[in-house]
Amino acid sequence: MRKKWWHDGIVYQIYPKSFYDTNGDGYGDIQGIINRLDYIKDLGVNIIWISPVYQSPMVDHGYDISDYYEIDPMFGTMKDMDQLIEEADKRGIKILMDLVINHTSDQHEWFLRAMEDLEGPYADYYIIKEGNGGNPPNNWRSIFGGSAWEKIEGTNKYYLHLFTKEQPDLNWENEKLREELYKMVNYWLDKGIGGFRVDAITHIKKHPSFEGRPADREDGLVNAWDMYANVPGIEVFLNELKERTFLPHDAMTVGEAMSLDVNCLSNYIKEDGFFSTVFDFSYNEGIEDEASYEKQQYSVKEIKEAMFTYQLEAQKYGFVSEFIENHDQPRALNKFIPKENRNFYSGSMLGTMYFYLRGIPFLYQGQEIGMMNYEKKSIDEYVDVSTFEIYEKALLDGLSQVEALNLVNRRSREHARTPMQWDASEYSGFSGGKPWFPVNPDYTMINVASQLQEEQSLLSYYKKLTRLRNSTEYKNLFIYGEFKPAYTEMENIIGYERVDKDMRVLILNNYDSHGTRIELKDGIQKILLNNYDILTMDGNILELQPYQSVVCKLKRSR
Ligand code: GLC
Ligand code: CA
Repeated sequence: MRKKWWHDGIVYQIYPKSFYDTNGDGYGDIQGIINRLDYIKDLGVNIIWISPVYQSPMVDHGYDISDYYEIDPMFGTMKDMDQLIEEADKRGIKILMDLVINHTSDQHEWFLRAMEDLEGPYADYYIIKEGNGGNPPNNWRSIFGGSAWEKIEGTNKYYLHLFTKEQPDLNWENEKLREELYKMVNYWLDKGIGGFRVDAITHIKKHPSFEGRPADREDGLVNAWDMYANVPGIEVFLNELKERTFLPHDAMTVGEAMSLDVNCLSNYIKEDGFFSTVFDFSYNEGIEDEASYEKQQYSVKEIKEAMFTYQLEAQKYGFVSEFIENHDQPRALNKFIPKENRNFYSGSMLGTMYFYLRGIPFLYQGQEIGMMNYEKKSIDEYVDVSTFEIYEKALLDGLSQVEALNLVNRRSREHARTPMQWDASEYSGFSGGKPWFPVNPDYTMINVASQLQEEQSLLSYYKKLTRLRNSTEYKNLFIYGEFKPAYTEMENIIGYERVDKDMRVLILNNYDSHGTRIELKDGIQKILLNNYDILTMDGNILELQPYQSVVCKLKRSR
């Protein structure tokens, strides 16, 4: 395998709007990121992914881009961006931008021109079809709810939008459009960024039949995944994109390859695959059982099965990106841990559980201090389209308003978007003015400033996680070593080994509020990390405390 600069990456994701505001307008900005680069560096991180900062009407918080070549004034200027790249570079940190090329904003010049002249060249940059006897061309549902088609006023034509109606889908079949996109991607890479996180990329190819499917709800619509996710032929576009842009720049690319079957991983992440790596969504998505709404959390067994299946398959070809939080997910402590057990131990156990898997670990802002969901008293306190979709669907499925609100309080992606909790001062030190979105009131307890002081804080623990991963002695093993499941017979233990020709390291996580005993099969040579002060051993019996995690070097037997 050819070594790549990003193989030793530890990535920190920033949601700029909520990270740090330097001018008191209530919105985080690029200067805010620059201001906190030393903090990020100190975490042991060497790559930053920033959610979109391009010019945008912000209907989907920047995922609706109206100009790929401009920075939105909310975040600053192109000068700020250049400064960020330079300042990050000084610290050995690479920047990944968010690449949103499945759709643009409806305010993008291309779309405005398309609407002005439905026969003109720009109309073919988008997906525009004749209606079907006064109805949309088919019954596809948008991922954010409602029909995926919007009627073009004064005509019988509709344009496709898999996300909000302000996010029209681009027509990748049009070669000119593809050329425009490649030019733009190269513009950014030429600036010296490290690469991209590539948004919603499995949707760029639509099935040429544009067929409807039997309705899956009373609204008559359907989530027709086979028509617009990983549709055969997508490989032509993905290869072209890679060859024209990423490859010549030796860029790092992380595909948001939702609903990618584990058996299709190889094309995406092999050495000459479409991307450097893709996210492992296997144990992060689909937790709430949409049919019954009864199941609120995955069992440890389910997490382990999903995670290990992905790991075992991925290591045959390349690297996946492992994460437990991002800007589309509720907070990890809420998602994975029952209410009464959300504390330092369960938080650090979650970190240890995924940090030494084979792949690139991603951390999301605030995860390192254990930020939690901000549960609201009323649906009106939420602002995001996708939250409303979850809520409306739940009501249609027969949940009461209270139940639907509870659901949103568990599942909404907005929990990840509350302002970063820097300290215990007003507005959590995020901004001098009123933030765009309310701060979680728990900020007086959970914040960076207090955890920086404490040895026994989650923040300090995350630094230990990165320090071990980055250490000269173990780095190579954690990057390239084989992943091997361990102690799988123990239901609430997530255990695995990382092995290479020189070393074996065992990672044991007791994903349980009760202690447990493990009969070790191998002798321990050295404890590398432990989220408790104690470790109880009785001969070869290891006693683990509730949510205890240990990382240990094994004696090289066998
Ligand atoms: C991706 C983004 C999400 C956004 C959507 C549409 O899933 O992560 O935040 O709403 O794409 O661009
Ligand atoms: Ca600001």
